[in-house]
Amino acid sequence: MASIIDVRSLPADFCQLVSSTMGYLLNRTLFCLTTFFATITTFQYVQPVAAQQYLLGLVYIGDITGPVVETNMMGYASLSQTDTGLHMIQRTRAFLIADANNPSNRVLFLNLDTAMGDSGIRRGILAALQQQFPGVYSERNVAVVGTHQHSGVGGYLENVLPQLTSLGFVNQTYQAIVTGSVIAVTKAHANLAAGTIFVGNAIVLNANINRSPSAYLANPAAERAHYQFDQDKDMTLLRFNDASGNARVFLCFFAVHGTSLYNNNTLISGDNKCMAAYLAEAAAEPNSMPGATSFVAGFSQSNVGDTRSSYVFTLANGLTIHTSPPAMGFSFAAGTTNGPGAFDFIQSDNSSTPQNPFWELVKGAFTPAPLPEHVACQDPKPILLNIGYANTPYPWTPSVVHIQMLRIGQFVILVVPGEFTTMAGRCIREAMHAKLIADGVIGSNAYVVIAGPANTYLHYVTTREEYGVERYEGASTIFGQFTLEAYVDIYSKLTGFIADNVSRTPPQSAAPLPDLTKNAISLQTGVIFDTEPLFKKFGDVLSDVKSTYSAGQTVSAQFVGADPRNNLRLEGTFLAVQQLANGQWKTVRSDSHPSTTFEWIRVSTILATSTVTLNWTIESGTPSGTYHIQYFGDSKPVTGSIISFMGTSGNFTVT
Ligand SMILES: *[C@@H]1O[C@H](CO)[C@@H](O)[C@H](O)[C@H]1NC(C)=O
Ligand SMILES: *[C@@H]1O[C@H](CO)[C@@H](O)[C@H](O)[C@H]1NC(C)=O
Ligand SMILES: *[C@@H]1O[C@H](CO)[C@@H](O)[C@H](O)[C@H]1NC(C)=O
Ligand SMILES: *[C@@H]1O[C@H](CO)[C@@H](O)[C@H](O)[C@H]1NC(C)=O
Ligand SMILES: *[C@@H]1O[C@H](CO)[C@@H](O)[C@H](O)[C@H]1NC(C)=O
Ligand SMILES: *[C@@H]1O[C@H](CO)[C@@H](O)[C@H](O)[C@H]1NC(C)=O
Repeated sequence: MASIIDVRSLPADFCQLVSSTMGYLLNRTLFCLTTFFATITTFQYVQPVAAQQYLLGLVYIGDITGPVVETNMMGYASLSQTDTGLHMIQRTRAFLIADANNPSNRVLFLNLDTAMGDSGIRRGILAALQQQFPGVYSERNVAVVGTHQHSGVGGYLENVLPQLTSLGFVNQTYQAIVTGSVIAVTKAHANLAAGTIFVGNAIVLNANINRSPSAYLANPAAERAHYQFDQDKDMTLLRFNDASGNARVFLCFFAVHGTSLYNNNTLISGDNKCMAAYLAEAAAEPNSMPGATSFVAGFSQSNVGDTRSSYVFTLANGLTIHTSPPAMGFSFAAGTTNGPGAFDFIQSDNSSTPQNPFWELVKGAFTPAPLPEHVACQDPKPILLNIGYANTPYPWTPSVVHIQMLRIGQFVILVVPGEFTTMAGRCIREAMHAKLIADGVIGSNAYVVIAGPANTYLHYVTTREEYGVERYEGASTIFGQFTLEAYVDIYSKLTGFIADNVSRTPPQSAAPLPDLTKNAISLQTGVIFDTEPLFKKFGDVLSDVKSTYSAGQTVSAQFVGADPRNNLRLEGTFLAVQQLANGQWKTVRSDSHPSTTFEWIRVSTILATSTVTLNWTIESGTPSGTYHIQYFGDSKPVTGSIISFMGTSGNFTVT
């Protein structure tokens, strides 16, 4: 069984492989990824979480990849970023922790390879779980946390604002995320076993940078002087051991934007945290398919704090906070250094703007004139989108802030619905650390981390000084300049609910948000039908492989294709690289290996013909032998139901 992963066990040319497959990946990420591994071997500090036995769900991955073509991607909110295929599967990893003495007392932390959590996604997951496991999982003990990757399938959020570039709601994406997440939980639930948890931390250098340094510098010098770095470099890692003491799982918290792939990439991928998880799992079990390893690694968006114990955990969540009604500022439309021009079309004139029919439909509702007190509340932000008052055709942004605090022994996770800047994150983490100790809830070893964007998406949270600078982050701090103070205040009031000595009457939750998915507008057209070109069949090879390859080269084959939206093949694959061994074909790569890509191109809209190109960049160390590559597709006839087919390339030799 795998134990802690050592950076030295990673294939030496891994970075090279990744950059040759995905030319857009930055060195920064590769450095970041290898640093992730380096860190795991160099804990500065490891302590058991409350020195007690837990029940841990030790198997738990679900495929949540929505339609990989003809759908807007989520993260950059760029109208032109429509997906054309697949680099790596998006997954949900379900981390389930129960108190061994009272297993109904449990925490379910869902880490999704998505840009953010969403109130509709969370509602869908909870509804399915309530049906399957009545009374076990509820909004109180389930956190739905996005890794904040920027290269996944879009259209799943239920409010109008994030739907602007996906031309409304994309039900197929939503369903994939909910279904795959529930599969992950079902596996975790069925595999609860005794284990222990350890927490460790380290400082990780050169893995992240501050993209709004001018805003950071607006924080008081005395406050900045407390920190060595202008970016949070602390990484926290929870290690789950099984009853025999073997490391089976880890869950890592680290603050780095999931933007290693740019908005010119159109292949669906999980970005840097998904890649890190793949690397860790594959290093532990090189012969297992991605998503099928028994060792599981999760990388969540966040940071640290640290210190000593008490024991069981409780949860608290679901409060309404009243701050300024939400509004977006002008810098929001201008984007960031990672994704220039996100939502640009909103402020451009018609001549320079690509037509967005969804925007044309909803812009009538756009931003009733702000009231004077609202302007004052948002000051100094000039209001571009007065989203807090926009409710037509349905609410532009959630009106209730779902916040949540999960406690596992001395370890506390602040589950936040937005993106905290470095300083804002440090502020709330330290304030809560001090408060938990001062209130006697946890001893001096209290350890606080932040995880988000989770549950609902409410954009950014800056410090008041950063807000004044109004770069992208400030302009996107939609509840006004006192947003951070409001969060600190509301979390502080919750500490009593996670104390050991209180009866667990949870705080009063706000009324649930209305389900917007049922009546959501969707302007994305479905697949009409697929046809084969004359004298060809679906899956026929159009351009075949060469006869011989060596490591570092790319095998490529093109097939007569059909629209992959016909069947998402969740938990399955669109491609297989197979090796001939003892007269049998054995699958050695799938569509979620970073070395493979699946690309779909519509050849003729009128004739409904298309092609699929499968690539495999051969990793060094790949055994020599005979291989072929297979395409799994599904076509939609003009009448009748969807038909599955398969295509196989010629044989080739890897030398
Ligand atoms: C994508 O954008 C990045 C950053 O601007 C650039 O370095 C890269 O070459 C671009 N890739 C493609 C394929 O255009
Ligand atoms: C944009 O087009 C709409 C109608 O298509 C028109 O009413 C509006 O005046 C145009 N705006 C600009 C700035 O040209
Ligand atoms: C719980 O313990 C804390 C710290 O010891 C104490 O301040 C608080 O009053 C206790 N609460 C109850 C309900 O006993
Ligand atoms: C979304 O898809 C599911 C499953 O196919 C279906 O039951 C539901 O009615 C659809 N919802 C909408 C709004 O189309
Ligand atoms: C697949 O490989 C072919 C041939 O090397 C190349 O032209 C194409 O750009 C590759 N596709 C992707 C998505 O990398
Ligand atoms: C590939 O090799 C297998 C096993 O030797 C053989 O059965 C098959 O006919 C070969 N395929 C092609 C297209 O030559």
